[in-house]
Amino acid sequence: MTLFPDMCNSVLGESIVGRARENGKVEINAIDIRDYTEDKHRRVDDKPYGGGMGMIMQAQPIWDCFNSLCEKIGKKPHLIYMTPQGKTLTQERVKELSKLENIAILCGHYEGVDERVIEALEPEEISIGDYVLTGGELPALILADSISRLLPGVLSDDECFTDESHYASLLEYPQYTHPSEWQGREVPEVLLSGHHQRVEQWRREQSLKRTYERRADMLENADLTEKDKMYISSLTADTK
Ligand code: ADE
Repeated sequence: MTLFPDMCNSVLGESIVGRARENGKVEINAIDIRDYTEDKHRRVDDKPYGGGMGMIMQAQPIWDCFNSLCEKIGKKPHLIYMTPQGKTLTQERVKELSKLENIAILCGHYEGVDERVIEALEPEEISIGDYVLTGGELPALILADSISRLLPGVLSDDECFTDESHYASLLEYPQYTHPSEWQGREVPEVLLSGHHQRVEQWRREQSLKRTYERRADMLENADLTEKDKMYISSLTADTK
């Protein structure tokens, strides 16, 4: 539910999500809130009571837009409101949301949304991070993208997501492709060795090292073997 459906459709019509929509692996509809205004000038916003800058999105078009959606699909979808005041999105939450059959996302715009429609709809409030954007569209697109790629059949085998950043609370190891030397920089020898086990060990250690150096906070939730822990201890020792 957005005031800028074209913005949403253009992003979600490309690349992996675009392909998944075409193949019927996920259905995403950008609904124009303006289609639900009762105002004769098709207005969807007005000045804030109490004064102040900017415009506030009115309750009625959002309320009617959501109820029309509920009628169309014959049930009440899980409703999410994108707002910097929400809980910060995590891969964990993305995974949970990917199991729901229907999700509706409300994109706020301008300086905000009339609080009464938030009270009435009781959405889950989600932020994509501690910074402020001009509207909820980009955050909604991020949410839709992160959920879509976890749905069955959306990623092909070689786009598979088991190894990547945040999958097991570890950051991803560095990757390389052709050529094996570029501007004097060589691909790590082990990756050219064809030795599967050594490659796996190197990647695991690189993941652990990166996570330790960049996001040590993530290690608390990571699934670590005794060997992993010993490797991390060796890193700690190196820096002393
Ligand atoms: N709308 C504006 N900024 C936002 C943010 N950081 N997260 C979610 N929605 C937003």
